[in-house]
Amino acid sequence: MSVREVRFLGDPVLREMCGEVDAVDDDVRALVDDLLETMYAEDGIGLAAPQIGVSSRVFVYDVRDDEIEPGVMVNPRIVEATGKQKELEGCLSIPGLDEIVERSGHVVVEGLDRDGEPVRIEAEGLLSRCLQHEKDHLDGVLFIDRVSPLKRRMLLKKWSKMDESKR
Ligand code: NI
Repeated sequence: MSVREVRFLGDPVLREMCGEVDAVDDDVRALVDDLLETMYAEDGIGLAAPQIGVSSRVFVYDVRDDEIEPGVMVNPRIVEATGKQKELEGCLSIPGLDEIVERSGHVVVEGLDRDGEPVRIEAEGLLSRCLQHEKDHLDGVLFIDRVSPLKRRMLLKKWSKMDESKR
């Protein structure tokens, strides 16, 4: 296991459509371990494979709630999405920026776990938001794509002005 370098906005890997995982083997488990270690090192609540430079459909999450187990999702699919929520959102790949993002309130996500076994998660609130955000990463989508064009321009302007050393 190792802490990997987090890729920032501007890195093309964040804009790729990630490939499906064919089999959950030791390589995938090693990727999962690196994702978990990096997420905790960066104090994030979720991290997707492209954020550490791997274009595979894998993410991890831990919303730091005693009643919600941390988890892994391989080849996730959002099979249900209902309701709406609007909350402030940020991303480890765009540090220093956040914005209100509208997302589904309740989702059901299906995928595979670390052992390649099917999992199904029903989520609301922060976990629901997190799962949608991380799934977006696997499609090359970032939260700045889910705000109005005006707000996106403002965010990108702020990003370009930010000192490289602060990133
Ligand atoms: Ni993110």
